[in-house]
Amino acid sequence: MTDEYRAAFDQAYSLALAFHDSRALRSPAATASFEALRAALYVPTPDEGVTAPEVITQLAAAVDAGLMGAAGPRFFAKVMGGSHPVGVAVDWMTSMWGQNSGSYHGSPAGAVAEQVASSWLLDLLGLPSDCSIGFTTGATMASFVCLAAARSKVLRLAGWNADADGLFGAPPVNVCIGNDAHAAIFAALRYLGLGHDRVIRIPTDDAGRMLVPALSGALASRGGPLIVIAQAGQINTGAFDPFNEIADVVHRYGGWLHVDGAFGLWARACPALAQLTAGVEQADSWATDGHKWLQTPYDCGYAIVRDSDAHRRAMAYEASYLPAAGGECREPFHYVPELSRRARGFATWALIRAFGRRGIAAMIERHCLLARRMAMRLTSEAGVEVLNQVELNQFVVQFGAGEPPERRDHLTRATIENIQAAGTCYVAEATWHDRLVMRFSVISWATTEEDIDRSADSIIASWRQVNAGA
Ligand SMILES: Cc1ncc(COP(=O)(O)O)c(C=O)c1O
Repeated sequence: MTDEYRAAFDQAYSLALAFHDSRALRSPAATASFEALRAALYVPTPDEGVTAPEVITQLAAAVDAGLMGAAGPRFFAKVMGGSHPVGVAVDWMTSMWGQNSGSYHGSPAGAVAEQVASSWLLDLLGLPSDCSIGFTTGATMASFVCLAAARSKVLRLAGWNADADGLFGAPPVNVCIGNDAHAAIFAALRYLGLGHDRVIRIPTDDAGRMLVPALSGALASRGGPLIVIAQAGQINTGAFDPFNEIADVVHRYGGWLHVDGAFGLWARACPALAQLTAGVEQADSWATDGHKWLQTPYDCGYAIVRDSDAHRRAMAYEASYLPAAGGECREPFHYVPELSRRARGFATWALIRAFGRRGIAAMIERHCLLARRMAMRLTSEAGVEVLNQVELNQFVVQFGAGEPPERRDHLTRATIENIQAAGTCYVAEATWHDRLVMRFSVISWATTEEDIDRSADSIIASWRQVNAGA
């Protein structure tokens, strides 16, 4: 390697490690404004290049104040894993290796790493070992892939070949979805020509779980191809749909059950929590993320499909220059929309290898205990209203219990702003059943009990300050 490139790598390495070591001390939120970031990054389209070390220096300096602290220990606003160092180290090698893991011939190692990681994932998640898995950018694309397979299969059962003939003239597909489904599902339905509004919305309970009698009622008057979408881990409450009952209903009507389990499906990897997901194994497809509870660096999701023929029919394509992998090896590009892509199997393999089954279970269980600890402190010390039973790692709260609804929304927003300004931890607002709430999610490998206690102190102090000035 040339001295110039070696210097760039040395610099990138030092800067990355310095960032890692300062995560707990940095602001958990970006501090620079849009204008400041644009001014720092913008120059007229460069006519001449600069040296590699200079590029690294310029970029790191320009973006530093615009980096969020999702890789840090006190970032609770979004359901984001913490880019574990093992995954980051492997990702560095993945980039250096420059593997195009679209096909076996593009990267034999990348394809086999995905195949082995797939078998580990199915084992950890307690799903049938002959499911096929596509490695995607995240859970949104994983649901897209799964629902493409679902569309293919249910229409095929109705005598229509959607993969060949598209949707024009196809029998209408009934798509049922819980009222509290994640926005990602609606996006996936839109991409698939199934429409985000042309769905049958099924009422939910106060934790966001689909009401099965309502599902049965909705289906009683309808026939034809059917897809039902349930979820493992509601984004606000962490609640799980009643999969056993839902699967009974869906399969009685010959439908396809898809589960969005972006983070919640991982409860299955934790014996103490697996019961929450009872019956989820009866679904036909599952979407989940690597970059949430498995802590892979961005980006990484998994589209898991029971009927691998339907999965392949929806995704595979032929090209004369792409020889078949042959033998027992699966072709990665038969299971996702992309051909050329990053070798996500390496980071997935590495993190499962690094944590082991027991390490993953312990981390998930710890996160759920920490979420409960935070909820307990907020209620017992500050009378904050926790709106859901904390069964997983997520909960939502409102400040100002006893006040009229609009006032509670106002106090909650003001408290969140105060917490953000204090800078100890990062939380943000969400909406839950028409109420403005603060969502709290514990999902980073880096979060400790001390982080939770420091954050609880800050949240309680911020609320008391707002309440005193209210
Ligand atoms: C339940 C659920 N589904 C889907 C998604 C979207 O996942 P991704 O951002 O990986 O596409 C999320 C993200 O938080 C989620 O919580």
